[in-house]
Amino acid sequence: MDFKLKNDTFLRALLRQPTTYTPLWMMRQAGRYLPEYRETRKQAGSFLGLCKNPDYATEVTLQPLERFPLDAAILFSDILTVPDAMGLGLYFSDGEGPKFERPLRDESSIKALRVPDIDKDLRYVTDAVTQIRKALDGSVPLIGFSGSPFTLSCYMVEGGGSEDYAKVKTLMYNEPKLMHHILEISTQAVINYLNAQIEAGAQAVMIFDSWGGVLSHAAFHEFSLPYTQRIVEGLIKEKDGVKIPNIVFTKGGGIWIDSIANIGCDAVGLDWTMDIGIARQKVGHKVALQGNMDPVVLFASPNAIEVEVEKILSSYGFGSGHVFNLGHGISQHTNPDHAAALVKAVHELSKKYH
Ligand code: CP3
Repeated sequence: MDFKLKNDTFLRALLRQPTTYTPLWMMRQAGRYLPEYRETRKQAGSFLGLCKNPDYATEVTLQPLERFPLDAAILFSDILTVPDAMGLGLYFSDGEGPKFERPLRDESSIKALRVPDIDKDLRYVTDAVTQIRKALDGSVPLIGFSGSPFTLSCYMVEGGGSEDYAKVKTLMYNEPKLMHHILEISTQAVINYLNAQIEAGAQAVMIFDSWGGVLSHAAFHEFSLPYTQRIVEGLIKEKDGVKIPNIVFTKGGGIWIDSIANIGCDAVGLDWTMDIGIARQKVGHKVALQGNMDPVVLFASPNAIEVEVEKILSSYGFGSGHVFNLGHGISQHTNPDHAAALVKAVHELSKKYH
């Protein structure tokens, strides 16, 4: 397939087509560990100021690519733009992470939830996608993304991050119908949102089910995975004759890899707890795998980073279908030189496996 890109290694790996090395990008590759990001954020005034201004979003999306020869760019935005567009009022208080002014706490606010108008309320995101594609100029592909309905619901009900997810789980167990209603509206919103990103130029999309792993087996299969599956089914799969692969990442989802790989996705993202070779044996004939180095490895020395990279590459083994990544976002305390060492190690050490 001709992707019309100077470097299409990432897209080929997602579709399990031959490549000459293992491509990589890093979750949260544009972020606070980069001094140039902190500088731009200061200019913009805030994190949301970066997200909501397509010029700034483009600038910070490109920053990690200017430093490192990464194989993909990811849209600079956040999963919480969707509930923000639904009227929940997203804000960031210093050091406390994301919060909502109007979390979903009662039946009437849940029943009042509406699918946002993407063209109007999330126009800044699709405008950023268009602008980033232009700026990338066919160098590497651009990844669009969204949260999964369950992960978005966690933030919408909790009103922010949580240690135990007690509010959202209590709602789920006490009022499963109301929980399903939130998930239903979120699913429609996410399908529209991801397809709008694809129409604007995203060449692959990733669904982050960052908190799916806090659920029981039964709850995951009732409240998270079926909705992710409906999103995958509702996505645009091909545009202008070119495939648009999708990746489903469930943090803590290794134990459910068989069911996740069965929902029709092209690739499964893995956190660092599962051996990627075992994952490949189980589902490698169906999906590509993305992952899965512990981001904390980047605190260790460049030599130690190389050792860990080799372990993951050799565990995956020979052939295509692997996109190297961290098992979760890069820490803000990471030394950028160590990120450079990771990129170099993956590119060099992976050649012998292709
Ligand atoms: O990967 C990239 O470079 C793209 C940008 C991106 C961000 N958030 C930027 C961001 C992506 C893909 C996300 C996804 C996201 N956002 C997820 C799913 C991935 C995951 O981490 O599991 C989640 C759960 C969120 C919600 C969110 N946004 C949290 C919990 C936080 C605080 C995290 C922290 O480290 O403080 C954010 C803020 C956020 N999103 C930052 C960035 C760069 C830090 C904001 C800052 O500059 O202060």
